[in-house]
Amino acid sequence: MTKIRKAVFPVAGMGTRFLPATKSIPKEMLTLVDRPLIQYAVDEAREAGIEEFIFVSAAGKGALEDYFDTAAALETRLKEAGKTEALEALAPTRMKEGALTILRQSQPLGLGHAVRQAKALIGGEPFAVILPDDVIKSQKGALAQMVDAYADVGGHMVATMDVARSETSKYGVLDVCSEAGRLAHARGLVEKPRADLAPSTKAVIGRYILDGAIMDRLANLRPGAGGELQLTDAINEDVDQIGVSGFQFDGQRFDCGSVQGYVQATAAFSLDRADLRDDYAAFVNTQPQGLRLVA
Ligand code: G1P
Repeated sequence: MTKIRKAVFPVAGMGTRFLPATKSIPKEMLTLVDRPLIQYAVDEAREAGIEEFIFVSAAGKGALEDYFDTAAALETRLKEAGKTEALEALAPTRMKEGALTILRQSQPLGLGHAVRQAKALIGGEPFAVILPDDVIKSQKGALAQMVDAYADVGGHMVATMDVARSETSKYGVLDVCSEAGRLAHARGLVEKPRADLAPSTKAVIGRYILDGAIMDRLANLRPGAGGELQLTDAINEDVDQIGVSGFQFDGQRFDCGSVQGYVQATAAFSLDRADLRDDYAAFVNTQPQGLRLVA
């Protein structure tokens, strides 16, 4: 089985739900505790063994590029000031030479369109896709869990989570033909089905391991749900020839593309930090709103 070495990060979205913040900050740079969302995604990819990072970006996302670049002036100042801890905090922002490629998606035509920008860089091998909006808090990274499972199944694999039937219209949804442990074998996938039309409540979450052949499907894709070129539709075309499985990851997923999910993630990650937990909990409990919530 080929090692999964490359990951595509679609980061071209405008983040309108976070306006006015995203007027000048890419949504992937919004911060959970002290790290931007993109750092969580890159860390998860690294843990899974990813060596090549492909960002599919857009105009106005310069802060993302700068974030993974060397900040020579800042580093010199920190060194001179003997601020070793602050210098060490920069370590995860360093990319190995040649490891990061940034492409442009010149038009917002959908997730399928974003992923196909990376065709030449992928070169036919299986690769991962990570949507940084979906933050997954887990012991072992969600993508690393998938890489392990993928070694036995191959084909296309999507991360899945059971959602309320009323929520299916926000997700890609699997038509499941059989299940074994964390794996579900799909006979189809539908993008954003209405609750009454959804084939199941097993939703696709933003982690994928895709056979390189998906690029040919993406090349000929027609617009789907919302008039966009949908990655889900391309995967759906391969259910017979390549095979599609859903992997139910172990972990808590936050929709950081929504303000509500982002605020919840902030709480969860703050409570997870030994140096913040007690102060944070005590503070929330003394807030009048917090007390009303408890009551
Ligand atoms: C995308 C995918 C969808 C998936 C979702 C997970 O939708 O198209 O299949 O379920 O991410 O977050 P988006 O949230 O970009 O509309």
